[in-house]
Amino acid sequence: MDRNKDEFYRELAQQAEALLSTTSDRVANAANLSALIFQSLPQVNWAGFYFRDGDTLIVGPFQGKPACVLIPMGEGVCGTAAATRTVQRVADVHAFDGHIACDADSRSEIVIPLLADGEVFAVLDIDSPVSGRFDAQDQHGLEQLAAIYTRSVAR
Ligand code: SME
Repeated sequence: MDRNKDEFYRELAQQAEALLSTTSDRVANAANLSALIFQSLPQVNWAGFYFRDGDTLIVGPFQGKPACVLIPMGEGVCGTAAATRTVQRVADVHAFDGHIACDADSRSEIVIPLLADGEVFAVLDIDSPVSGRFDAQDQHGLEQLAAIYTRSVAR
């Protein structure tokens, strides 16, 4: 385990708890968490949310280049995470069948599904221009941030 990375995510989680403590508004908290992730994580070119509306994911607050607006459930990395309710950690997006290229710079990606009452209501998506950017420790740290967001909007 990389102790520096562990400490990095611990501090980031503390900042997120404080930043998301004011309101339970899902847009406000998604906007600030996207900004916190984008500003804090090195080698990231996109960080943001897609919200679920039935069989479709629609883009929410994010940082980075303009993105695809609608993603059908089950399609791309985001739609796969949402449909399977499992984190998708993709070391090489070019090797992921059906990857949706919003930013041509993206090389690796992690998508975390967010659940309430057993149902996916959103996904947190983070892209990197570096292949293999996200390891298991990043996944754990980002899952903690996603959980802080989910709790903040469920209040
Ligand atoms: N690459 C994603 C699409 C969203 S963008 O990366 C912002 C996907 O395949 O679902």
